[in-house]
Parts: sequence; structure tokens; C-alpha cells
Amino acid sequence: MSYETILTETDGAVTIITLNRPKALNALSSVVLEELIDAFAAYQADDSQLCAILTGSGDKAFAAGADIKEMSEKAAADFYLQDFFAKWTSHIVKTTRKPWIAAVNGFALGGGCELAMMADFIIASENAKFGQPEIKLGVAPGMGGSQRLTRAVGKSKAMEMCLTGRMMGAEEAERSNLVAKVVPHEELMAEAKKTAALIASMPPMAAIANKEMVNSAFEMTLDQGLVQERRLFQILTASEDKKEGMAAFIDKRDGNWKGR
Ligand code: HXC
Repeated sequence: MSYETILTETDGAVTIITLNRPKALNALSSVVLEELIDAFAAYQADDSQLCAILTGSGDKAFAAGADIKEMSEKAAADFYLQDFFAKWTSHIVKTTRKPWIAAVNGFALGGGCELAMMADFIIASENAKFGQPEIKLGVAPGMGGSQRLTRAVGKSKAMEMCLTGRMMGAEEAERSNLVAKVVPHEELMAEAKKTAALIASMPPMAAIANKEMVNSAFEMTLDQGLVQERRLFQILTASEDKKEGMAAFIDKRDGNWKGR
């Protein structure tokens, strides 16, 4: 599939989606959003694809935010009537049940930071810089920054980041639990692909269930989350891959997954 603002490719069972507006530091325009919705839906629908990576083209940016030039022309009524930014969560986060990783290769600011935080986890290059600088534009995060950043790094640091608009480097981001891992810049994609291939080698239904139960920790009370975890665990015990996984362990061989 050919797009105007993103690139997609597959490497075995791994889908790689690249934001591709390097001259605008991969700013997230409405066209980017529509194309990402399509690319993530295609990933979700393709049974041969078991993990995805989202990254940015060029050496400088993952994404430097929502497209300021596009937003500068919109009236408040447009933002409200279009429920601007709602589709990021409703059409990408909620409909992508399979795992995906953000490989952050540079600036991840505003909507770029928020998009990275929508991923199941972030792998960052040493050059990565995260921030919610919207306050400097007279606005505030609109794609989840105040909620997902706060859940990731805690109130004090999230509040400081949002109120000052300052950037956080990769080392601080790892120390603050915003990212899972930091690697040298030139090793970012190799590391992301290695991790994605490892996830893709796992029993696929178990991967979806693991993702669903970890995400529940952000949505439910502890009691509700524990019930959800047990139910998903119990469902998995009925799967063919549970039988295969345990047999493979006992036989000292790799599992041959059916995905059900
Ligand atoms: C549109 C952008 C952009 C953006 C950069 N560009 N960020 N275009 N939207 N978010 C464009 C620039 O206009 C410029 O285009 C080109 O990319 C290169 O950027 P420079 O500023 O020249 O690069 P540099 O000096 O290296 O500075 C890099 C930077 C800076 C620090 C990342 O670009 C920057 O501060 N960008 C904005 C970051 C930001 O505020 N993000 C949050 C957006 S608001 P030209 O054509 O001039 O060469 C948001 C959610 C808002 O995400 C929610 C409220 C409704």
C-alpha cells in the first residue's frame, strides 16, 4: 500500500510503519492520522503479522508534534465539532489489539510524545528527546499527554514537564520509566526489530491477552484488574497453544504455535 506521509514494510512477522515527513520533523497532520489508522488496521487484520514498530524517518525526529501549521488555521468550533484528536485513541490504540513498539529516534514532542506513549512500550535512541511543550503555544496536551505521561512518570515530573515545556533526554526518560530501553542511535532499528521478532515468536493469542491485562492496570481498580487477569489466564488454559507450550517445554523443543 502506498501512502503520502508514512511508509510501511514487513520483515517476516514484523510490520514497520515509518512517519515520513522529515522536512516537517514528521509533524502529525490529519493526513498522517488517516494513513496511520489505515496502516494499523491493515496490521491488525493480517494474521501473518504479529508485532509492529512505529518510528520516524530521518535522524532528527520521531514526531515534533501535531502539525502546528494545520492547527493554526482552525477555529475552536472546528476542534470541538470534529472532536479533534479523538481518533488517535479510538481508531489506533483501542483497535490495535496486537502488540506494537515505538522506536523513538529523536524529538518526540507534544503529539509525538503522546503517540509514542500510545505504544505498548518505547525503545529510545540516545538522541531521543521527549516533551509536552504545548503550553508554549498557549494550549495543553490534547492526545493523552497529561494522562499517559502522568501514569508513566508520576505527578511531579509530569506536572513539571507540562508546566515548563522542557524536554527530557533519553537517559532521564529511562530512569523515569517512560521508556523500556535506551540504545545507541545507530542500533535503534536493529534493537527494535530484534525485540519485535522475539514478541512475534510468542504464542499470538497469549500476546494479545498479556497486552490486554497489563493495559487493564490503567483502566480498572485492583480487584477488577485481578479478576480480568484470572479470566484471561483461564481462557488461555483452554487454548491449543497452552497444550503445545507446555508439551514443548517438557520435550525441550520450541513451540509450534497455532494462534488459538
Ligand atoms: C508543523 C513543524 C513542527 C510541528 C517542526 N516543524 N515542528 N511543522 N508542526 N509540530 C517544522 C518547522 O516549521 C520547520 O519547517 C521544520 O519542521 C524544521 O523545524 P525547525 O524548527 O527549523 O528545526 P529546529 O530548529 O531543529 O527545532 C526543532 C524543534 C522545533 C525544537 C523540534 O521544530 C520545535 O519546537 N517544534 C515544535 C514542537 C512543538 O511545539 N510541538 C507540539 C506541537 S502541539 P520549515 O518549513 O520552517 O523549514 C501538539 C498538540 C497540541 O502536538 C494540542 C493542542 C490542541
